[in-house]
Amino acid sequence: MTALRPLLGIELPVIQAPMAGVQLSALAIAVSNAGGLGSLPCAMLTPEAMRKELESLKTGTTRPYNVNFFCHAPPPPSAAREKAWRQALSPYFRELGIDPEGIPAGPGRAPFSAETADVLEDFRPAAVSFHFGLPSKALLARVRAMGAKILSSATTVDEARWLEAQGVDAIIAQGVEAGGHRGMFLTEDLSTQVGTLALVPQIVRAVKLPVIAAGGIADARGVAAAMALGAAGVQVGTAYLLCPEATTSAVHRAALKSDAARHTALTNLFTGRPARGIVNRIMRELGPMSAAAPAFPLATAAIAPLRAKAEGAGSGDFSPLWSGQNASGCREIPAAELTRELAAR
Ligand SMILES: Cc1cc2nc3c(=O)[nH]c(=O)nc-3n(C[C@H](O)[C@H](O)[C@H](O)COP(=O)(O)O)c2cc1C
Repeated sequence: MTALRPLLGIELPVIQAPMAGVQLSALAIAVSNAGGLGSLPCAMLTPEAMRKELESLKTGTTRPYNVNFFCHAPPPPSAAREKAWRQALSPYFRELGIDPEGIPAGPGRAPFSAETADVLEDFRPAAVSFHFGLPSKALLARVRAMGAKILSSATTVDEARWLEAQGVDAIIAQGVEAGGHRGMFLTEDLSTQVGTLALVPQIVRAVKLPVIAAGGIADARGVAAAMALGAAGVQVGTAYLLCPEATTSAVHRAALKSDAARHTALTNLFTGRPARGIVNRIMRELGPMSAAAPAFPLATAAIAPLRAKAEGAGSGDFSPLWSGQNASGCREIPAAELTRELAAR
């Protein structure tokens, strides 16, 4: 099979993409037990919640699993930008009867830290993956000392070369089709972002490490195509969103099952960084990209009460409906079955 088996100890070349906000340990356990690599996303978990999910993983599987973190530099808060952002959202606050004065500012997503490394050391996962580059050298050394293989996303050839120079064990080549946040970290220029079919072979040529293809892969033919381009394995996110083990919300599930899922865009409205989601009302009316959105992850706080109120009424108008460009693989089947089907060629 591939370089991934000796590296990660998995049977199938399929990594379930970590997806913060739509899954906890149940999805990861199902995928790992099926022979793929299940992933636990920690960007939106407190250290206590992370420990609880890692305990579940420990009892739920004896197979390797991956734990995933964001590693952005938290931006200095800007009162002026926060004010302008709330101003842009004010017609919606009025429409939904929300008092913007009562909304706290705050990050919503936390980067890998010494505190989260403390928790991780009690579990020693087989793999740790990062999004938005890598943490500090000192933190990375702690992860390495735990014996974990280190993976990180690259969205350009330059990012792949940079990650290789930092000593990662494998590179996730994230094509622009991918759902969720762009892992881009050496550039903010969206015109540098290319599709999986173009990115994977160029990164394979540029680095000596195993390359994992991500973005737009939804079935066994997609997996075979990625491997034909030189990938050692795939990381699949969107296709798992309807699995019963995912915690995907009702409005998100409904959007994924509808024709709306055929139209996605990169938007910074929900967090401050570009991420791909199904186009909804707020993306149409304020974006999809807006200069008014505060820096990542500070844009989240002001939109959260709009989202909560609308979702309570069954509407996804203000929700991040993260999805890749290819939602055709989304089915309500157990994650183990999906994992085996993806690897079936
Ligand atoms: C709902 C959703 C949430 C995501 N959250 C994360 C995350 O927390 N960490 C991460 O590294 N990648 C995250 N991603 C990106 C995935 O790692 C991966 O690049 C992407 O799902 C692959 O493309 P696909 O969705 O077309 O399969 C997310 C993707 C989706 C769809």
